[in-house]
Amino acid sequence: MTQKKRQILVTSALPYANGVIHLGHMLEYIQTDIWARFQRSRGHECYFAWADDAHGTPVMLRARAEGMTPEELIDKMNEEHKTDFRDFGISFDNYSSTHSEYNREMVELIYRRLEENGYIERRDVEQFYDSEEGMFLPDRFIRGTCPKCRTEDQYGDSCESCGSTYAPTDLIEPRSAVSGSTPVMKESEHYFVRLADFEQALKDWIASGSLQPEITNKLQEWFQDGLRDWDISRDEPYFGFRIPGTRNKYFYVWVDAPIGYVSSFKELCDRTGLDFDAWWGKDSKAEVHHFIGKDIVYFHTLFWPAMLMGAGLRTPTAVYAHGFLTVDGAKMSKSRGTFVSARTYLDHLHPDYLRYYFAAKLGAGTADIDLNLEDFVLRVNSDVVGKVVNIASRCAGFIGRRFEGMLSEKLPRPELYNEFLAAGEQIAADFEGRNYQSAIRRIMQLADKANRYIDEEKPWQQIKEKGREDHVQAVCTQGINLFNVLMTYLAPVLPFTASRAGDFLGRDVSSWSNVDQPLLGTAVNAFQPLLTRIDPVKVSAVIEASKETLQASGPDSDSLAGGDIDPLEKEIKIDDFLKIDLRVARIVSAESIPEANKLLKLTLDLGNETRTVFAGIKSAYEPAQLEGRLTVMVANLAPRKMRFGISEGMVLAAGPGGEDLYILEPDDGAYPGMRVT
Ligand code: 2FM
Ligand code: ZN
Repeated sequence: MTQKKRQILVTSALPYANGVIHLGHMLEYIQTDIWARFQRSRGHECYFAWADDAHGTPVMLRARAEGMTPEELIDKMNEEHKTDFRDFGISFDNYSSTHSEYNREMVELIYRRLEENGYIERRDVEQFYDSEEGMFLPDRFIRGTCPKCRTEDQYGDSCESCGSTYAPTDLIEPRSAVSGSTPVMKESEHYFVRLADFEQALKDWIASGSLQPEITNKLQEWFQDGLRDWDISRDEPYFGFRIPGTRNKYFYVWVDAPIGYVSSFKELCDRTGLDFDAWWGKDSKAEVHHFIGKDIVYFHTLFWPAMLMGAGLRTPTAVYAHGFLTVDGAKMSKSRGTFVSARTYLDHLHPDYLRYYFAAKLGAGTADIDLNLEDFVLRVNSDVVGKVVNIASRCAGFIGRRFEGMLSEKLPRPELYNEFLAAGEQIAADFEGRNYQSAIRRIMQLADKANRYIDEEKPWQQIKEKGREDHVQAVCTQGINLFNVLMTYLAPVLPFTASRAGDFLGRDVSSWSNVDQPLLGTAVNAFQPLLTRIDPVKVSAVIEASKETLQASGPDSDSLAGGDIDPLEKEIKIDDFLKIDLRVARIVSAESIPEANKLLKLTLDLGNETRTVFAGIKSAYEPAQLEGRLTVMVANLAPRKMRFGISEGMVLAAGPGGEDLYILEPDDGAYPGMRVT
């Protein structure tokens, strides 16, 4: 491989700090990580730096709802996110937060340069204001009746029923989703970036860059509509960075989010001695590649490059948008248990399974990707375990048992080995172009070839024939070397399995640099199973556990947007409330269910009857702490069949979840069966 060593920075979109990481996020991070690992395996200098997107109204309100400061919330989430990523094998070099001092400095620097260069303008804007809460309302925090189809309770920017988009002021009977009050119009001064000033420079950047064709087309439409000034300020209260020189104006979260790419990298530079200017300076020769979802293209292909241009920094080499994740053909849903958090997945299944499946489905375009659960099991079992791992396990036994681990001095079929090597260039081109599905197809065709070779040679028969030992050793040496090439190609996709394969081979398979040197006349190590088949029961357990999460964490929601919370539930009438039969119950016994992450099995005395309830409070209580205590339960909830039995009601608890969950207890004098009014 004689190619120039490139300097590459890759990023994924920054996840909001107020939500858990789910498989929809993981699609993007796995896509990015495969690309980063691939570049490193080819000998390039490649870094992956990103951060939590910590600012904005939803984070502020979520923290308030959970009784925390925003700083406490974002610190907690940052730790959780990093653990999820590490456990999925995401090889990030730095993971920061947009609330860092590094980011504050970078935001202020970029803003100052934009201002000095005359790109900032101020003018008054009239907006909906919640006088009860004393805050201006983002569009998503205004609800009302759709002006087009009259469906009630729609967001301030678009209608989920008829799909039309509008201004919040068009809503019929608008109300604040924060306090429920009717908002009033109020004026305040806002800061804008004059986007139209960058029109020609943006067009040149698009022409020179490597955007996907569908994105370039979309951009043409936006240019035709005309580039409008971008409002970059928000009034207090707001969780963010204050705009220098103002008393109560904050940078809009979308200003400091992409700047987080730069500041996270700067943090890495300061830690490791990298030269920041060589990467982000105007004349940088390094490459910057952003991986994002198709819903945030506007921010990354117009606002973001314009900000960089205006501040005299380099622009991105490329922005790659991917489609959304569906599960079994539909949007992820909490009620169906298909809204799966990264943690719930990892509690039951190996990360390489999902990494492989996503790779096998990802192309270079923006099409949505479906995680079909049945196909997931079949495909991983058949390809990874049945084809690739199988090559090693078919050969390793003979080499280990009959030849003390020693490989032959020569390959019996060097041309077959060379054919595997030659396929590498096409496979590399596929990875480079993010056409992972094509790379996987080619790799699996090679795996089929390797298995056919072993089938034809039948070492298990030949070993019984006299004088064939050397040949069997050579056949197995050939098989193990073909496996070595395949694992090298697959290492960016299957890092955990590749590392185990490397232990067996006694060679690092995460670099392509020595793959053209077959392993000959050397010993391999004892073979340990590299990856076992997916047990479909585990997949069902993931789905069940995702339903449990719902029970423990509140109202159903199909929303995919980690950044959106909707604090205003639909109003109910007093009659609706009276339908709920709340009773005092005594916890007679509490048992832990070892297979459940969140559930305790409670036996409740309701005065004249006993109920079994599975409650999602395991993280907060030892069973013994609960026995004998009084609590409050919903006694007329329809029984629900769960994996561990039927739950006949629900106990009430307060708090955000995890250890912070407290069952409700009535005061002295209450007794089991008493109605709560
Ligand atoms: O859409 C989102 O989830 C945003 N948090 C992405 C930010 S990406 C970048 F601009 F930082
Ligand atoms: Zn409508």
